[in-house]
Formats: sequence, structure tokens, C-alpha cells
Amino acid sequence: MPPFSPSIDEIQFRPMRMEDVPDLVAIDRSWEGSRWNRAAFERELNLPMSLALVADRGGAPVGFGVMWVVTETAQLLEFAVSPAHRRQGVGSGLMKSLMDAARARGCEKMELELHEGNFPAQSFYEKMGFEIKGRRRRFYDMGQGRMCDAILMERPL
Ligand SMILES: CC(C)(COP(=O)(O)OP(=O)(O)OC[C@H]1O[C@@H](n2cnc3c(N)ncnc32)[C@H](O)[C@@H]1OP(=O)(O)O)[C@@H](O)C(=O)NCCC(=O)NCCS
Repeated sequence: MPPFSPSIDEIQFRPMRMEDVPDLVAIDRSWEGSRWNRAAFERELNLPMSLALVADRGGAPVGFGVMWVVTETAQLLEFAVSPAHRRQGVGSGLMKSLMDAARARGCEKMELELHEGNFPAQSFYEKMGFEIKGRRRRFYDMGQGRMCDAILMERPL
């Protein structure tokens, strides 16, 4: 099947809804660092400090981002675009929408952490204006006794 290439104009960025959850679980499972199951998404929908958006194409989610708003800081918890929709600006549009939503809630900066080996995501976040601020040693348990560092990034809003 040829790679799917929608126009970014076909994508809407809107709040996450309960009926999105099965699609979001599928998107999250598409990458190696996947962490969230159905219950994890559902929990976020019921948490007042959680702010969750999806990239919607024709009623179907093709990406999502979830953050917590803690006083002046937005903490990005999970962020992914479906493999068929990557490198087409969906992630950039979604991140801009999350930053706008965080500013509207009074946030002054956004923070995130990512696996030290996730070079595509690090490159993406750098393009979005994030800078490396530190490292958490042996933060991710990769199984079989292997631990990996987390890279901490942040940017002002
Ligand atoms: C990281 C991710 C969200 C990027 O989403 P995306 O929709 O492909 O991003 P965009 O198309 O908006 O890319 C914007 C820019 O980011 C950078 N970028 C994105 N993907 C990249 C990659 N695989 N390698 C290098 N740079 C990349 C590029 O500079 C790109 O601009 P360009 O396409 O003009 O070169 C997506 O690859 C993804 O879902 N990965 C798996 C989940 C993940 O790692 N999440 C982060 C966990 S902390």
C-alpha cells in the first residue's frame, strides 16, 4: 500500500473523547516506547489537571498528546502520531495546539522526558523549540535488567 499523505488542512485538533480511546491505544502501541493501555487513557479523561488533544482526520484520531497542567507548568506525558501520518506536519500541528491550550490555562513553560535512544522524537522536540535541561539516570526499565536514562527537555510558552 502506498504511504498515506493527507493535507494538513484535513486535520483538526480537538479535545480527546471517550470514544477515541480504542484508536488511541492502537496508535500508542505502534511505537517501541508505548506505555498506555485503555485504562490509562480513560483515567486522563476524568482527571481535572489533564489536558488531552487528538489530531482528527474525518472523525478518526491519527495522533494524540496528553499533558498535565500543574500551576505554571505543562508536563507532557504521552505524545504520538500514527505511523502512516508521520512526517506530514501532524505532530507539529498537535504540539502547537497543546502549547496554545497550555498558555490559555496560564502555563509559562512545558516540560517532557523521553527515552535517551528516541532520536526521532528528540529531533522533533528540538524542532518545536525544546532544549535539553537534564537527564534522569536509569529511569526507564527496559526489561531483563536493562535500564536507560531519560532526557529532560523544556521550552518557555
Ligand atoms: C515524534 C513524532 C510524534 C513526530 O510526529 P510527526 O507528525 O512525524 O512530526 P512532524 O511531521 O510535525 O515533524 C516535524 C519535524 O520534526 C522532525 N522529525 C519528525 N520526525 C523525525 C524523524 N523520524 N527523524 C528526524 N527528525 C524528525 C523534523 O525536523 C520534522 O520536520 P521535517 O519533516 O520538515 O523534516 C512521531 O514520530 C511519533 O509518533 N513517534 C512515536 C512516538 C514517540 O516517540 N513519541 C514521543 C515520546 S516522548
